[in-house]
Amino acid sequence: MSDREYVLGTGQDELARLALQNRLWSDVAVKAWRRAKLQMGQRALDVGCGPGYASLDIANIVSPSGVVVGVDESQAFVNDANAMARARGVEHFQARAGDVQRLTDHVGDDEPFDFAYARWVLCFVPDPEAVIAGIAAALRPGGRLAVHDYFNYEAMTMAPRRRSHDLAVAATSRAWRAAGGDPDVGQRLPAMFEAHGLRLDDVRVHARVARGGESMFAWPNTWWRTFAPKLVEKGELERADCDELMSDLEKIERGEGFLQCPPVYEFLATRR
Ligand SMILES: C[S@@+](CC[C@H](N)C(=O)[O-])C[C@H]1O[C@@H](n2cnc3c(N)ncnc32)[C@H](O)[C@@H]1O
Repeated sequence: MSDREYVLGTGQDELARLALQNRLWSDVAVKAWRRAKLQMGQRALDVGCGPGYASLDIANIVSPSGVVVGVDESQAFVNDANAMARARGVEHFQARAGDVQRLTDHVGDDEPFDFAYARWVLCFVPDPEAVIAGIAAALRPGGRLAVHDYFNYEAMTMAPRRRSHDLAVAATSRAWRAAGGDPDVGQRLPAMFEAHGLRLDDVRVHARVARGGESMFAWPNTWWRTFAPKLVEKGELERADCDELMSDLEKIERGEGFLQCPPVYEFLATRR
């Protein structure tokens, strides 16, 4: 396992944020999985599965004869994922602790997979190409990969544009890169697929506008309420700018303006 700390942390606040994020994006995820021909009986790999929210949705689709394996570097998230599966009586899912940059160490002895999913993990790892190489090795020829990740993170904007938000987005990007990630990793994925025997089948973008009172507003709102205080602790954002951001979010919540969420890119590929 990696001794690097996941930049967003693995505490209860991040656990709750990931659950909410999964609910808000599950319709997009399910449609992508269907386009990637995920179906009953298949063997699926959830790369960087976190607490297993998407893994268990995938387990529903492949059940009862399929299998889902999740890999995540956070032992706490892996424990949460396995406990949630047990509580729901899901026996065909298993989360394993490990660095996805060394996937072969964790799934190399498994039978080849029909499907792999990587959502919001490639953007956090120092070597996303190693992850893609490991996924390609784990898939059978004809097996599919679906990725949801960022491509142009700093497109995230408040309307009207607000100083506090611009500062927080720039600080996020800096903190993320300092931890070894790349918030625009999507730009590098097509070349990585090609280098590792994956044929790119489809790319599309999911852009979302969040207005106060709409469900999608909870996504950027919980993001900033969880992460902006961490940016202050890391010395990337001034306390006063964080307070200004919270007050600007309240304005949107009251109906003043809206927030352009960071566009989520979807890549579907097939193992040659
Ligand atoms: C934003 S969360 C996404 C979790 C999950 N894919 C989802 O969509 O709900 C990012 C996850 O990547 C994991 N992660 C980051 N770097 C990793 C690495 N090198 N190896 C394994 N997992 C990693 C973190 O522990 C965290 O669970």
